Amino acid sequence: MTARERLALLLDQGSFQELGALATHNMADFGLEDSQFPGDGVVTGFGHINGRRVAVFAQDFTVLGGSFGVVQANKICRVQDLALESGIPLIGLNDSGGARIQEGVGSLAAYGEVFVRNVLASGVIPQISVIMGPCAGGAVYSPALTDFVIMVRNTSFMFLTGPEVIKAVTGRDVGVQELGGAEIHSTKSGIVHRVAESEHVAIEEVKALLSYLPQNNHDDPPQIAPHDSQDRMDDELNTIIPNDDRTAYDVRTIIERVFDRDSFLEIHPLWACNAVVGFARLDGFSAGVVANQPAHLAGAIDIDASDKISRFTRICDAYNIPIITFVDTPGFLPGIEQEYGGIMRHGAKILYGYSAATVPKISVVLRKAMGGAYVAMSSKQLRCDLNFAWPSAQIAVMGAKARSASCAGRRSKSRMIPRP
Ligand code: HXC
Repeated sequence: MTARERLALLLDQGSFQELGALATHNMADFGLEDSQFPGDGVVTGFGHINGRRVAVFAQDFTVLGGSFGVVQANKICRVQDLALESGIPLIGLNDSGGARIQEGVGSLAAYGEVFVRNVLASGVIPQISVIMGPCAGGAVYSPALTDFVIMVRNTSFMFLTGPEVIKAVTGRDVGVQELGGAEIHSTKSGIVHRVAESEHVAIEEVKALLSYLPQNNHDDPPQIAPHDSQDRMDDELNTIIPNDDRTAYDVRTIIERVFDRDSFLEIHPLWACNAVVGFARLDGFSAGVVANQPAHLAGAIDIDASDKISRFTRICDAYNIPIITFVDTPGFLPGIEQEYGGIMRHGAKILYGYSAATVPKISVVLRKAMGGAYVAMSSKQLRCDLNFAWPSAQIAVMGAKARSASCAGRRSKSRMIPRP
């Protein structure tokens, strides 16, 4: 789709109010006297999504590859400023080859103007980025500063430096999809929060995501009428957690049964799968859900899971969304790679996120809450408001088997110490 077609699909019919439609660059400065660049490669303005006001920009790849110069920057900065002043979400549809080569350092400086506005708006108004085409350089840094990144599979990619530069610097051949496709960014780098199979689906994803978020950090998320009764009981919940505490199960089956039917929207479903985070509703009210995932790495918390959980708790805290945590973890993942990679630096972010959050917090220990992970996963000591334990809960420094193995080891060592 073109930039305007995408906006037409995103916004309520007839609601788009364009800004800066006639802005163009004086390309004579760059030796392109005869060329016209309508809108300077971006369409900006305001509109409504399901009746709620939003600010938008959509880059236009048909104009110099959607590349980013000073006029484009002025247009985007203007809509960022107005979104922040008005307290409304900003949605960016990104499709740009990055800094406009012809404009040299002018476009680099202009990127700085956009980035600083991304940061000042962070946690104040929701910012959602959709990657809808090839995006390079600065065109991916701005999305990286926003709350959520949605990427369209196959037709979009994102990287800081492209395959040719990588080949020149490292000698390594890599294709665009292998380097920066949706598969890589949703499973390995973790920059992408949701992958959409088409542009249409990506736009639906924006609308769905927005439905859990408030207009700004002074507002509450909308309440959406549930399809089920708020006091329904579910006996199946008694049977999902296996009796054997080493048997895996999918924690999402519990989440889906606890919250309003079909309301769970998972964030980062394909990355750091040993943790599950996402939005859901209770009696129509938005809630942030955090859980360990026993079906992956037994639910142990590693570096990526730490980043996933901590970032999500910070977002919930910023946007007045209560956090409900389901705990089933044997602890932080032991290993040399984890220690060298900075598990302390990353794990500390979970402690920080829960401790700092002032939204209502509830935790439910489903099965194992062991060691440091007991403390980290929304413990009472980190200011959780209500801590529940299911009948299957075990809370300890370590599991009984690990404890007896460790005691046996210590006994045998002590026997080797010669007595005086
Ligand atoms: C000016 C650009 C451009 C750019 C693309 N075009 N990127 N013009 N500046 N950055 C133009 C092309 O010249 C071409 O013009 C048209 O857009 C379409 O581009 P194609 O290459 O034909 O399209 P495609 O094959 O799909 O490849 C898309 C692409 C590639 C992968 C994005 O164009 C590309 O690699 N562009 C350069 C990416 C880049 O290095 N950007 C600078 C990053 S540095 P014509 O007239 O032929 O149709 C940066 C610094 C910011 O952004 C740092 C912030 C921290």
